[in-house]
Amino acid sequence: MKKFYVTTPIYYVNDVPHIGHACTTLVADFLARYYRQKNCDVFFLTGTDEHGLNVAQAAKKKNLSPQKFCDQVSARFQETWKELNISNDYFIRTTDPKHKKIAAQIIQKIYDNGDIYQNTYEGLYCIGCEKFLTKTDLVDDRCPLHPPEKTIRQKEKNWFFKLSKYIPQIIKMIEDKKTNYVFPAGKRKEVLAKLKAGVHDISFSRASVKWGIPIPWDNSQTIYVWIEALLNYYTATRFLPNKKEFWPANLHLVGKEISWFHLVIWQAILLSMELPLPKKVFVHDFYIIDDKKISKSQGDKITPQELIDKFGVEGTRYLIANSFPANNDTNVSIARFIEKYNADLANGLGNLVSRILSLVEKYCARKIPKITKNPDSHPLRINKKIHNWKRTWQDIDHFLPQCQPSEALASVWKFISEADKYINRNKPWELAKKNKKKFNWVIYGLLDSLCQIAWQIYPFLPETSRKIARQLNIKKLLVKNPQNKDSWTNIKPGTKIKSGKPLFPRITPKI
Ligand code: MSP
Repeated sequence: MKKFYVTTPIYYVNDVPHIGHACTTLVADFLARYYRQKNCDVFFLTGTDEHGLNVAQAAKKKNLSPQKFCDQVSARFQETWKELNISNDYFIRTTDPKHKKIAAQIIQKIYDNGDIYQNTYEGLYCIGCEKFLTKTDLVDDRCPLHPPEKTIRQKEKNWFFKLSKYIPQIIKMIEDKKTNYVFPAGKRKEVLAKLKAGVHDISFSRASVKWGIPIPWDNSQTIYVWIEALLNYYTATRFLPNKKEFWPANLHLVGKEISWFHLVIWQAILLSMELPLPKKVFVHDFYIIDDKKISKSQGDKITPQELIDKFGVEGTRYLIANSFPANNDTNVSIARFIEKYNADLANGLGNLVSRILSLVEKYCARKIPKITKNPDSHPLRINKKIHNWKRTWQDIDHFLPQCQPSEALASVWKFISEADKYINRNKPWELAKKNKKKFNWVIYGLLDSLCQIAWQIYPFLPETSRKIARQLNIKKLLVKNPQNKDSWTNIKPGTKIKSGKPLFPRITPKI
C-alpha cells in the first residue's frame, strides 16, 4: 500500500485559530482524504507549537501558567479542527513529554556530530516571528508582520548550528527541477536567490527563554523554539506506534513567511542527522483582509467559527477551498463569500440535486428509472453527453496534488453546470409525457452524474457527498478506483430515492 504523509505547520498558541490557519489545515485534509480515496495509507499530522517567548508572554498577559495557557489554546485548535471535519490522524503538542524527549535526543546527536558550537549573537529579534531578523526581513528597522514593540535588540551567548556547511547541498537539491522539491516554481526561485546571496550559521538556543526544552548538555539554555518545532514532523513518527515507515514525509504545507525554516534550516538539520529529507514542500501565499495580512496582532480577522455559523461546515470548507491563496495573496471578505456561496452552492450544486430529485419524485414515483441495456445506450454514453466526466477526474488528479483545490473544484463545477444545461436542453418534464424511454435515459444519466459528482467532491465536502449518496440510497459511496467504469456506476434501477432538505439554503446578505 502506498504511503502518504502530509503535515501542516504546528500553530502558535498565542492566539486562537483564524481563516489563515484553517486554509492550510483544510488543504492538508483535502489531500489526506483524496489519497485515502485512492486507497493509500495516509498519515496526516497537525498540532500546536507551544514553547518560546511569544507564548510565555501571552500566558503572562492572561495570568496563567504557560502550560495551562497552552492547554486552553491548544484545545481551541483541536475543537476547531473537529468542527471543520478535519481528518488528521494525530494532533501533536510540543509540550508533550514524548516530543520533548526525542527532540532533546536529536539536538544531542547534532552536537555529537560536531555541528554545534558556542558563539555570541547580537541583533534585532522579532518576538512575533520568534526569529532574529536579517537585513532582508526588515522594513523601517522592524518586522513588517508584527507591531513595533515585538522587535527587540538582543545580545546573547548561544549555541550555534553550522547551517552554512549544508548550503551547497541544499542549493543543489532545490535547483533540481526533476524532483520539483519546492513548489510553486516562483517560491523555488525566491529561496534560491536568498540562498545564493549567502547564508550564515544560526543560533540554535536561547539563554533568556525559560519556556522551552533545556539543551541536554547546558541546562542554562533552551532549544530555540523554531528548531524544536520543526522536529515535530519527525518526532511524531518516532513516538507513535506504527508510524516509523512514514518518514520521510511526502509533503509539508507551509505559508510563505515560514518557507526559509522549512526549505533550508529543516533540510540542514536532517542532513546533519543523516536522515532522508521530506519529498516536497508546498509554499502558499496569504489571505488578506483590507490589504492587510491576517496576523495574530490584528483584530480584523475572520475566524472559522464565524464562517461555520454563517455557511455551515461544508459551506466553510468550500469557500476556503475556493479562495485558497495557492499562488497569490488573496483578498477575502464575508460579502464575497456570501455571493460565492449562493452562486456555487445554493444555486449550483444544491439546486442541481434538488432539481434532479424532484423530477424523480414527480415523474418516476421516487424510483430510479429502469433502463434497457444495449451497447449503444450504456449509461456511460449518456453521461458523456452530459459532460466529459473523465476530464474532471484528470483535473482533480492534476490540481489537487499541486495543492490547487480551487482549480480542481472549478472542473467539478463545470460538470455541475453542464448537467444543469443538459436538463434545460432535454426538458425531461416534456419527455415524461412524450417519450418515456428517452426520459428514463435522461434521468438515469443525471442520477448517474450526481453519483459521480458526489464522489468527486468527497475530499472537499465529505458530508455533502454522503448526503447525496444517502438520497440516492447508496449505502456506500464508491470504494474502488472511480475511474474504472464498472465501479462507479452503482445506482440501481428501481431503488427508492429520498429527497431531503435543501443542501445549501440561500443566504440573504444583510444590507
Ligand atoms: N509555529 C510556527 C510554525 C512552526 S511549523 C514547524 C508558526 N505558527 S503560526 O501560528 O504563525 O502559523 C503560521 C501558518 O498559518 C502559516 O505558515 C500559514 O500556514 C497559516 N497562516 C497564518 N496566517 C495566514 C494567512 N493570512 N493566510 C494564509 N495562511 C496563513 O508560524
